[in-house]
Amino acid sequence: MQNPSYQQYKEIFKGQDFPYAFVNLNLLDENINAIKQRVGNKKIRVASKSIRSRYILEYIAKSSRIFQGLMTFSGKEALALIDKGWNDLLMGYPIVNPNYIEGFCKATQSGKSAVLMVDSLEHFQLVEEQAKKHKVVQPVCIDLDVSSDYLGLHFGVYRSPINTVQKFKELVDQAQMFEHVKIIGLMGYEAQIAGVGDASPYNGVKNRAIRLLKKLSIPEIQKRRTACVEYLIGKGLHPTLVNGGGTGSIDSTKKEELVTEITVGSGFYSPGLFDYYDNFKFQPAAGYAIEIVRKPEKNIYTAHGGGYVASGSISLDKQPKPYLPEGLSLTENEGTGEVQTPVVYKGNKELHIGDPVFMRHSKAGELCERFDQLLLVKDGKILSHTPTYRGEGWCFL
Ligand SMILES: Cc1ncc(COP(=O)(O)O)c(C=O)c1O
Repeated sequence: MQNPSYQQYKEIFKGQDFPYAFVNLNLLDENINAIKQRVGNKKIRVASKSIRSRYILEYIAKSSRIFQGLMTFSGKEALALIDKGWNDLLMGYPIVNPNYIEGFCKATQSGKSAVLMVDSLEHFQLVEEQAKKHKVVQPVCIDLDVSSDYLGLHFGVYRSPINTVQKFKELVDQAQMFEHVKIIGLMGYEAQIAGVGDASPYNGVKNRAIRLLKKLSIPEIQKRRTACVEYLIGKGLHPTLVNGGGTGSIDSTKKEELVTEITVGSGFYSPGLFDYYDNFKFQPAAGYAIEIVRKPEKNIYTAHGGGYVASGSISLDKQPKPYLPEGLSLTENEGTGEVQTPVVYKGNKELHIGDPVFMRHSKAGELCERFDQLLLVKDGKILSHTPTYRGEGWCFL
């Protein structure tokens, strides 16, 4: 299906109160299919942080058996999802609040699959205390750091301290003292491949360096992750979960034989930052609209609101991206503002006060923190609307 034009979207959303966010289900379907085809024979665990709407999570899960389970981003979120009937959850990050850990142990007790992430003996200890209390053996997954260091340059993220095979082995060995905790596998999130664009207009020649670093890093990741899985196998621990990747690393993560599942989230909405990868392009399935309320100068239109800048290091690519009509750009001085966003328009349409400007967030799930609902578009019409996490009163981080 062709992406709707400005005029088509304008017609589709006629009469809606601004600002509004939307998901185009036809484009979401295209992304689901593209991801399914790309991933080979691996299962996909959907990263809930990059979706933040229960309806969309269910929509993806129901579309294919390839989508199995969720990677959750907060303990409170995971427990809320369990409460709504979800099963097969993997915490993507450690949680240390005993109440939430206790919630996981209770879920385990009731027969659900709810796996905690750990990377230190302190984490194991916290899990052990709650698991013992509830007389369960709580499954955990070890977070293996798979970043690379090149001549003092840290290529990756700072998360888990377990950044060598040796440290992994030591943690596994020491953790054998905990009777109520069971290591069921490991996760190695290669953020430097999955989350770093290598075709960004903001990077210039840096793109080439990033592509080279990625090339060097991929075999290192594979070696480290494989050696750690083999260690678990050798110890008779029978790992059933070996998680890797994100949207931006599907092509390399899927080549690892011992990886059982790849985490994917952002590729479904495909926000602005995911336009900047050399080896794939998904469809812009999610966006939002702000209303033109003034015209300060010829070719400059000022819209109401819109300043939903993304988290992470401060850089221009974290700004929302003007989407439609084509020919829009932001001003350097104001960017997207708290209440007012001027856009420079060099296109050939006539824009008027009251017209929409369609924008895309630079990240996937953060869009949903700004809106209570998503308008669902299908075949050129608004099919219905569905709450975001925020619309359900869910605010986790
Ligand atoms: C642990 C982990 N796995 C996977 C991902 C990838 O998610 P996405 O596909 O949204 O880039 C992330 C994103 O930050 C993550 O933190």
